[in-house]
Amino acid sequence: MTSMALKISVIGTGYLGATHAACMASLGFHVIGVDVDPAKIALLQKGEIPFYEPGLDTLLAEQVQSGRLTFTTKFSDVADCDIHFLCVGTPQVTDGLAADLTFVNASLEEVGAIAKDGSLVVGKSTVPVGTAARLRARLLEINPKADLAWNPEFLREGFAVEDTLHPNRLVVGVTNDRAEEILKEVYASNIAENTPWVRADLPTAELVKVAANSFLATKISFINAMAEICEAAGGDVTVLAKAIGYDPRIGSRFLQAGIGFGGGCLPKDIRAFMARAEELGASQALEFLREIDSINLRARQRVIELVRRDLTEDLRGKKVAVLGAAFKPDSDDVRDSPALDIAVQIQAAGAIVTVHDPKAMEPAAKRFPVLNFAQSIEECVQDAEIVLHLTEWKMYREIDPLALKSYVANAIIIDGRNALDREKWLEAGWKFRALGRA
Ligand code: UGA
Repeated sequence: MTSMALKISVIGTGYLGATHAACMASLGFHVIGVDVDPAKIALLQKGEIPFYEPGLDTLLAEQVQSGRLTFTTKFSDVADCDIHFLCVGTPQVTDGLAADLTFVNASLEEVGAIAKDGSLVVGKSTVPVGTAARLRARLLEINPKADLAWNPEFLREGFAVEDTLHPNRLVVGVTNDRAEEILKEVYASNIAENTPWVRADLPTAELVKVAANSFLATKISFINAMAEICEAAGGDVTVLAKAIGYDPRIGSRFLQAGIGFGGGCLPKDIRAFMARAEELGASQALEFLREIDSINLRARQRVIELVRRDLTEDLRGKKVAVLGAAFKPDSDDVRDSPALDIAVQIQAAGAIVTVHDPKAMEPAAKRFPVLNFAQSIEECVQDAEIVLHLTEWKMYREIDPLALKSYVANAIIIDGRNALDREKWLEAGWKFRALGRA
């Protein structure tokens, strides 16, 4: 079989699945995306995506147009596929820290029922260690001639297409050479570009993913802890981060101090990891992640304290402008967004909060209809008694502070992301506050 003859299904067409499906089709494979949500499938079939991700809309539309990429709600339509990528979500359960495996378990049953002999199910979802071995055993019960491998995904929102087409490494958890060979066919173009290839067993492959996200979360909380110390001691965390980042063993990336990490991955992944460690009797090893989570959540409170310090303890009736709702720029994702969390808490304290975001206002309004939303930066800050910069979109970094000053009631800004040019804002006559900068 030549690799282009491989037929691929992608089960779950959310963020990860839609990106993976479009990228696999762009490499020349025939790809069918499967999802239980008929509305989502109808949209994708038209070549449209239900969220914002730079470059993915065009790529997906092109692939649908080419005929290589189709979508369905029926598992029977993918029965002749050679490979089935499992890309369903694993959100945090509502009553604890663990990951909810309902969708993973259900899709394994569905795919198991139709998987042809010799086909390979490849898990990409982030799961608690031990899940892959359990799913493989279950798959073999249903069809002893199918197989299962684990191939974690490391894409970042905002760079999803680039990260999928040119990942910085490929990790494949397999139990035999044949599964690895099939995955080498799928990723032949990456292998040709010398992308590092790591073969692992199933539990290690699952662990690589949560270990990587835990490390990234730790790096962010580390610098936010240093920000707290800088505040107490009169230092400047942005200078500190720059200086330690020159040591290549430390590295300068992910040392941006501010309101911390959010999104659909880092927060829930570190919590699920702690929950799983406890089940394994190894909870002590991950005790530090509890602290990472606390430091992260504390950063949000520190912004609210700054607001109180600059206005009054009693925020009732105060007009607060919030620039940014997405959990990070170049995304419309508001899951566990630090920016929105701060906005909602200030609103709950009685302030009148108006939010602006270039892409995430619709999802934000859906989640928190109590907030006010403005269509422009100027409208957002009109008569504001304080402005909070909480998601570092390029358009906010390019604001002319002098021009903006004419709209506000008080020229006070809190830079929650340490991304604005402080000197410029000070020169324009603003009171400038930032986390970790005395
Ligand atoms: C993260 C990982 O970076 C990906 O490698 C992984 O594949 C993905 O989760 C996943 O598990 O699916 P993502 O959620 O897109 O990707 O976001 P990040 O770029 O990691 O940013 C996470 C949060 O940390 C954002 O809220 C961001 O604003 C914050 N952050 C990031 C900081 O506060 N400081 C930094 O220096 C960097």
